Amino acid sequence: MKILVINGPNLNMLGRRDAAHYGTDTLPAIERALAEKGKSLGCKLGFFQSNHEGAIIDFIQANTDEADGILINPAALTHYGYSLRDALVDSGLPVVEVHLSDIQSREEWRKISVISDIALKQFSGLKTQSYILGLEALVEHIKGEKK
Ligand code: DQA
Repeated sequence: MKILVINGPNLNMLGRRDAAHYGTDTLPAIERALAEKGKSLGCKLGFFQSNHEGAIIDFIQANTDEADGILINPAALTHYGYSLRDALVDSGLPVVEVHLSDIQSREEWRKISVISDIALKQFSGLKTQSYILGLEALVEHIKGEKK
């Protein structure tokens, strides 16, 4: 089983962003934690981060055929990224959306996700643990589908 793990704009700066919202883990640290979890769940992970919506869409299109699911933190694209949303739908893959911060308890504009209704689940506000729980839920779903 192969999962694409995608991070959107500014997440390459984790560790230097507001720790109260995003915690202190860097993106490589989050990816290491996910890689370990992935091993125990028996799945391979393909990591990608970009500050550019088009680059994320290119990555999804280029990797859809080899993948079984997508774990994504769309970052600010969560709130307005309609072409990212379309690319996720077009992939036909199960998607789980994750956020480090609790987007429901922040500014009004952050409460809106244009991704959540096409995602199986959203995990928000648990810092790195959002990704870990998201990966578990996605893998569980895919294993259920393959039975
Ligand atoms: C975020 C929340 C977004 O609103 C924000 O733009 C981010 C990160 C999160 O993980 O909490 O960059 O997706």
